[in-house]
Amino acid sequence: MLEVKNVFKSYKKPDFFTMKRNMVLHDVSFSMDENECLGIIGESGSGKSTLSRLILGIEAPDRGEVLINRKSVKNRRERKGIVSAVFQDYTSSINPSATVHDTILESMQISKTKFNRQEAIELLNKVGLSEDYLYRHPHELSGGEVQRVCIARAIASKPMLIVLDEAISSLDASIQVTILDLLKNLKKEYNLSYLFITHDIQAAAYICDKLIIFKDGKIVEKIKTEDIKNVKEDYSKQLFNAVLAV
Ligand SMILES: Nc1ncnc2c1ncn2[C@@H]1O[C@H](COP(=O)(O)OP(=O)(O)O)[C@@H](O)[C@H]1O
Ligand SMILES: [Mg+2]
Repeated sequence: MLEVKNVFKSYKKPDFFTMKRNMVLHDVSFSMDENECLGIIGESGSGKSTLSRLILGIEAPDRGEVLINRKSVKNRRERKGIVSAVFQDYTSSINPSATVHDTILESMQISKTKFNRQEAIELLNKVGLSEDYLYRHPHELSGGEVQRVCIARAIASKPMLIVLDEAISSLDASIQVTILDLLKNLKKEYNLSYLFITHDIQAAAYICDKLIIFKDGKIVEKIKTEDIKNVKEDYSKQLFNAVLAV
């Protein structure tokens, strides 16, 4: 369903005098199937958010291509309603002056022309919020509640794939588990695929079927989550030992 093929991405260095570019992604290739949850684990600065922007078609790669259902994500029209996203920084990813109602309905409009308030309420219930939240603004919600609204918005456009870029990383530990369980249930109910991008190995292992270990813009290793204790590369061993030892 999702195919990332030999993707390279660089950014211009801020230094005006050098022609050198900052290579962020080097020859990244992987694919994922429907109903799969694939984790991308990497340290901060390893290029994960850059990769998510390429997959969402927000930016274009220097070389290589990203295909969803064999079509390039460069085509915004084709992509609409097929892939959506939940980001880490929920305060900036949601319009502060829009009510929960407007946020969800705007997203619903992408997939169909007619919608109603009842559907918005049903969706809100699915993410664990009651009807009382419908006309609230983001500043009247807790961080966890805003993130639930962002998840509802991501589902409202009826996507096949949701890119979750550090989606739970800003939340308190206890709320993280609740949101991960919510994501697991929604995935089953709506037959979703998740690309779960994180620096948090435990969260990734909890929710993902497969994992990609990512370092300095390159794929180090691809494994099934059940094989987490048998990773081959030194970097993966280092990364997992630190977590699995405790
Ligand atoms: N728009 C941009 N312009 C220049 N450099 C960028 C841009 N976006 C990201 N980078 C650089 O790319 C690298 C990877 O960043 P990012 O993809 O955000 O990593 P991660 O999400 O894994 O923390 C960093 O060195 C960052 O400074
Ligand atoms: Mg990031």
